Amino acid sequence: MKKSISISTVVTLATLFMMPLETIAKEAMTGKEISFERKLGNCLACHAIAGGKQTGNIGPPLIAMKARFPDRAVLRAQIWDATIKNPNSIMLPFGRHKIITESQIDKVTDFIHSL
Ligand code: HEC
Repeated sequence: MKKSISISTVVTLATLFMMPLETIAKEAMTGKEISFERKLGNCLACHAIAGGKQTGNIGPPLIAMKARFPDRAVLRAQIWDATIKNPNSIMLPFGRHKIITESQIDKVTDFIHSL
């Protein structure tokens, strides 16, 4: 009995310590890394982006972004929730559904805006 309690305590503590570490690691990622990471932005599944491999073509290639999105806020809004512009969009509402954090959206927006 005593042994099983200590094991579950160890598991709980390990989980508590591992979670913040993972969060810290994610916060340290660059906009490019977040965009390319399959478990986070996964933008390459649908968009061709310079430097990306095995890109999809469901969405338009993300090129000349500053020319097409002079206003960074408009670009951020598109990434935060694509369904505002196109209610039938298959692009995931990354901000509205909290798929990535607000600070990750800022980094992704800066990276995409630089393309
Ligand atoms: C499941 C497919 C899919 C994923 C994943 C996806 N998008 Fe999209 N995206 C689209 C489609 C389709 C469009 C075209 C407009 C629409 O239907 O909403 C689009 C449009 C855009 C646009 C507007 C482009 C233009 O020329 O008007 C931007 C910017 C954009 N996506 C950025 C991103 C970023 C950044 C990510 C990753 C964080 C991402 N997308 C992930 C499918 C996707």
